[in-house]
Amino acid sequence: MALLIKNIKRLVQVETLKLKNRAAGKEMAKVEAVEDAFLFIENGKIAAFGAMNQFSDKSYMWETQETEVIDAKGRFVLPSFVDSHTHLVYPASREIEYVDKIKGLSYEEIAKRGGGILNSAKKMQEISEEQLLEDALKRLDEIILYGTGAVEIKSGYGLSFDAELKMLRVIKKLKQLSPLTIKSTFLGAHAVPAAYKGRQGDYVDMVINEMLPQVALEGLADYIDVFCDKGFFTVEDTERILEAGLQYGLQGKIHANELDFSGGVQAGVKYKALSVDHLEYVGDDEIQALLGSQTMPTVLPGAAFFLGMVYAPARKMIDAGLPVAMASDFNPGSSPSGNMQFILSMASIAYKLLPEEGINATTLNTAYAMDLSDKLGTIAVGKTANLYITKEIPSLEYLPYYYGTNKVDTVILNGKVVAKEGRMV
Ligand code: NIG
Ligand code: FE
Repeated sequence: MALLIKNIKRLVQVETLKLKNRAAGKEMAKVEAVEDAFLFIENGKIAAFGAMNQFSDKSYMWETQETEVIDAKGRFVLPSFVDSHTHLVYPASREIEYVDKIKGLSYEEIAKRGGGILNSAKKMQEISEEQLLEDALKRLDEIILYGTGAVEIKSGYGLSFDAELKMLRVIKKLKQLSPLTIKSTFLGAHAVPAAYKGRQGDYVDMVINEMLPQVALEGLADYIDVFCDKGFFTVEDTERILEAGLQYGLQGKIHANELDFSGGVQAGVKYKALSVDHLEYVGDDEIQALLGSQTMPTVLPGAAFFLGMVYAPARKMIDAGLPVAMASDFNPGSSPSGNMQFILSMASIAYKLLPEEGINATTLNTAYAMDLSDKLGTIAVGKTANLYITKEIPSLEYLPYYYGTNKVDTVILNGKVVAKEGRMV
């Protein structure tokens, strides 16, 4: 199976010589591109690309009868978005809480009334595995149509042995059923369940001694997460869980500093977490801790926007030389959208990133945060062909600028066209 895309107005985020695993500091503003380009895909991988005038010489090699040809005149081609932080397996939406929020209740007040994560946890006990799977598959189609090609999905709405495992088994099935590249994260320590109220330490023991060994035994997770924040889990809880995770070969990807300076960033760096996510509360100490580390600072604009929180100092972090990734946090409570085009717009509208920096934040750097930058995140020979063709648009800047509508026309995953004109095929 081969696929040839011709007459591409601009092929964006290409890598020709040295392949980067992430982009940091000034490098984030660099996005290589080829004008008037072709792209050739074979066996699900990117086999060649270049300018159309180079293509003409070798067209006999590529334009054979078995090759599907797409004319991309007037349209851009980009690597698929990589969404490195979601909770998209959930039992029900929570728009009633959202109305409470409009009426003035805070996220913490809603949580205290049994809303928030515990509300999802209650519903998670009741829903069947089949229904959970069916609903999540629909959400996966939705994000595919908006240009996402890889996604991380967390547990964390179960908060009991059975329900956490149910969520993780659903994610495992999604990996088999969906053309998306999926990684799974065990987030047993998302909130203290009602049954353990006042006994947080006992719950952490249960996560470590009962849930984690079973998760590892069944190979259900690629990473481990903890919500390290004010009113949730402490640095001590977090370090215990990260250490236990490492014993089972699970690297951390943690929620840190969303509600306060929690010490979560430093804990993540200390235990070599792959990423620390949210980061609304980041100051010089956190930036220092991250500099020189292998941990990817990940900002979640959807949650800060939806909850009306302060925005993470992404500009300051990049200016200090750090890499920054941006993901959707798709979940029913704090970010009910998996639209990565919106995240790209938010990168520049709210965080003052240049469009190029936003592209690196949502492709290469999120790929790093899922340990996938050798396979995804840029257009490079040998990488998996997960990419999209835009509608006819005037410029690259137009992508973040014209926010709120879908600019993706055709989606290619593993070298196959899976969506066209806003519909799955
Ligand atoms: O990433 N911050 C913690 N967890 C989720 C919110 C989950 C929820 O409200 O359902 C988040 O924003
Ligand atoms: Fe989250």
